[in-house]
Amino acid sequence: MGGGFYISKFVGVVGIVFGAGAVATVIALAVVYSQEVAKNEALSPTNGGSTIKPPVTTPGGSTVKPQITTPVIPTTAPSNEPWDKYRLPDTLKPDHYNLTLWPRLTVNAQDLYIFTGNSYVVFQCVKETDLILIHSNKLNYTKWGDDHLAKLSALGSTPAPTIKKSWIQPTTQFLVLELNGKLAVGESYQLDTVFVGELADDLGGFYRSVYTEEGEEKVVATTQMQPTDARKAFPCFDEPAMKAIFHITLLHPPMTVALSNGMEHGQTSFDKTKKMSTYLLAFIVSDYDYINSTNDNVLIRIYARKKAIADGQGEYALNKTGPILKFFEKYYNATYPLPKSDQIALPDFNAGAMENWGLITYRETALLYDPKMSSNSNKERIATIIAHELAHMWFGNLVTLRWWNDLWLNEGFASYVEYLGANEAEPDWNIKDLIVLGDVHRVFAVDALASSHPLSSREEDIQKPEQISELFDAISYSKVPIMYTYLNTFAYDNTVYTDLWDHLQMAVNSTGTSLPTGQTVHSIMNRWVLQMGFPVVTINTTTGLINQQHFLLDPSTAGSWIVPIRWMNTGLVQQQIWLEDKTAIKPEMTVTGNNWILANLNVSGYYRVNYDNTNWERLLVVLSSHHESIPVINRAQLVDDAFNLARAKYINTTLALRTTKYLRSEREYMPWESALDNLDFFYLMFDRSEIYGIMQTYLKYQIEPLFKHFGNITGNWTNVPTGHMDQYNQVNAIRVACSTGIEECQTLTKGWYSQWMKDPANNPIHPNLRTTVYCSAIAAGGAAEWEFGWDQFQAATIAIEADKLRSALACTKQPWLLNKYLEYTLDANKIRKQDATSTIVYIASNVVGQSLAWDFMRDRWNYIFTQYGGGSFSFSNLINGVTKRFSTEFELKQLKQFQADNSEVGFGSGTLAVSQSIERTTANIKWVAENKDSVQTWFTTEVPKE
Ligand code: BES
Ligand code: ZN
Repeated sequence: MGGGFYISKFVGVVGIVFGAGAVATVIALAVVYSQEVAKNEALSPTNGGSTIKPPVTTPGGSTVKPQITTPVIPTTAPSNEPWDKYRLPDTLKPDHYNLTLWPRLTVNAQDLYIFTGNSYVVFQCVKETDLILIHSNKLNYTKWGDDHLAKLSALGSTPAPTIKKSWIQPTTQFLVLELNGKLAVGESYQLDTVFVGELADDLGGFYRSVYTEEGEEKVVATTQMQPTDARKAFPCFDEPAMKAIFHITLLHPPMTVALSNGMEHGQTSFDKTKKMSTYLLAFIVSDYDYINSTNDNVLIRIYARKKAIADGQGEYALNKTGPILKFFEKYYNATYPLPKSDQIALPDFNAGAMENWGLITYRETALLYDPKMSSNSNKERIATIIAHELAHMWFGNLVTLRWWNDLWLNEGFASYVEYLGANEAEPDWNIKDLIVLGDVHRVFAVDALASSHPLSSREEDIQKPEQISELFDAISYSKVPIMYTYLNTFAYDNTVYTDLWDHLQMAVNSTGTSLPTGQTVHSIMNRWVLQMGFPVVTINTTTGLINQQHFLLDPSTAGSWIVPIRWMNTGLVQQQIWLEDKTAIKPEMTVTGNNWILANLNVSGYYRVNYDNTNWERLLVVLSSHHESIPVINRAQLVDDAFNLARAKYINTTLALRTTKYLRSEREYMPWESALDNLDFFYLMFDRSEIYGIMQTYLKYQIEPLFKHFGNITGNWTNVPTGHMDQYNQVNAIRVACSTGIEECQTLTKGWYSQWMKDPANNPIHPNLRTTVYCSAIAAGGAAEWEFGWDQFQAATIAIEADKLRSALACTKQPWLLNKYLEYTLDANKIRKQDATSTIVYIASNVVGQSLAWDFMRDRWNYIFTQYGGGSFSFSNLINGVTKRFSTEFELKQLKQFQADNSEVGFGSGTLAVSQSIERTTANIKWVAENKDSVQTWFTTEVPKE
């Protein structure tokens, strides 16, 4: 494998473990890279003499109906032929491709959107073989004169063997060519193909996105290749390590723009790409507009629908991209690798954004900003997602993982540095603090299940496209950022940029953090990477005994870690120690009298903390008397630890509930958000039971002062607070005050909404508050409020406004409206495919919609699964979302039935989610049985007597 740069497993683990390692890896490899690039230039087809051929029209031109199932040689008994394996053999290595694609933006006689293409790939034979396997999915080939699906020619002096047999192997997605003789090692060959595919609305490969502008329906042809859909656009060696250079030509109607990874020259062709992986390719034809600027010789362009550009919705992204790029150039100590950076907003897009090299694609909500329409949360999302994708331009694109089992390195690293990049763009937000809510709590929740998995998986365990898709989960995205935070605190000095491994060990030594005897940085970190889950550390402040256990919601398996414990006591002096074994005695961690201990300061470690009862009681006293002595992040963490420890039965549920009592005097966002997230579980478990009423009364009492506070500091709701986090907490105050029945709140939101209904052109609601105000008003209202919301949804000119309405429409309490809305989710003219699963989940989150959504999903599973793509990564969200309230034996039975009934259709990337849901439901049933009475009693005694 020559040319591209990959992170080997070994460097990978080290790299992710140590921020500096990853950074240094990138830099070190970038240097080698530039040398290799020079070598590769000599091999490129422009130097090699090949010319780009004119496009070949498939016989019959656009009237050909592409066959989604191409000729197949039936496989009888399960065989172990190379084409039955999912991985490419190591016999051939691509060098460059020459690809011409022609998407048709109008339907053909068969009412289909199609694209035609012709392509050749030049590859080298590195091991003798008489077989060519190249990925191809849902493409229909034009046969050559010899009746085969491709044409093979030799570039060297020995002629190429003739083709014996050629066919499509649909399960493993290969175009297979059996040859009459062997390919010679070291020789280069050229494989030509002519093909046609459907430009479907399936959000994968080369697909179409549709929108209406000035009454006219417009079609964008665009791509989403990651992880395994490049093969749906053209035949290619579709594995990340199979890097090659791509010469792209896009044929398109006059008045439309074509974009690809390289800079365009002329109307239809582009600069050849760098040596790169197929999953990072992008081809787009649209009639979009753009705005641009230059930053250190890099051309930055933001593309979007004409109206969006005219309305200035691309400005924020354009203004922030330059500084973020600059920041990463400094961080990686390497200049941005390409001459241009295009970013484009698409009306239909499955993920949030995709880091195609030089042409990053986004869903509209993740790129387009309008100060009059966008909330601070929308703005934060845009800043972080831009930072995330730009971070991939180096880590991921320039330096690429060899195989998908190491995906967590790529996504995890980007998910960490996105905070750094966004912090650069918006330094006043304290955005790095949000790692605790955004990542730590998110991953704690799934990593505490026995069905969790280690960060790294074995290469051989990841074969099929759906196994690859399944890796894009919370563990891959959110566990790694925590490790970086942890390393920043404990081990490595951010300014050390020189070398990898040894240097890191030196850095550790030089920070004065001595590692436990006999342990290395590597040995410590390996346990976090190779074992799933995380520990709970229990500190007994009377005896100084501390111990660790594998934290599981349903304890059974066991692991152990080397845990760095940063802690403080009443005197607020910070200290740190290592817990290497299962137990240890730490005399310094004993206290007496009213003194207390607090560990995992600022949540720099990936573990939970439990204490002896006395210390818990003392911490509760601190919270209720002078909560500011505890750092705000730890206030959020105490609440989260307490609730989760209670769920795993380490402490009583009532102790967890007691951590929420002090909230009447809490004004900060993070502790409130943490408490509301945790109480949300109580709502899920009890909002269909008699406990609901008393819980509402309690929370209403708790939120009252916060609601008043925000009313006061916003001039009676006429403006919004200045701080980013305060703005978030204002939304919490309104959301909870309205949902628990504070009349003043309901009057406020209903008033605003009806004012808007009377004068639709003048929405009086601040963008920050819209999601919650719309929800509250639609929940309180009937058909008129819902229909108005629906009309506004359809009329919205910016996707973030449509999205706010889309979530609020799920808040109605009318079952008939919810059922109607569920039906809309499978009608792409009403709800875009990209939004279908999240809309169903919104409906399921509404207590009235829960069972409706579940019935709907299981009834239509077959349809949803086939229509919405076996590779789409939202299936796990759908399954987890629709079943999150499940807490009865009956529901468990239904869930298992659902699993059995669809075993044939399958669950694709939602397979793990089904077992997680079963596990979660089982745990919920137990939890409800064990806690219902004490919870009811607690709330009853806590609510103020009228
Ligand atoms: N590479 C991913 C996009 C992706 C995800 C493609 C899953 C195929 C399958 C991209 O870099 C990414 O991570 N996007 C995130 C946003 C990010 C801010 C976490 C997304 O799309 O949500
Ligand atoms: Zn990413």
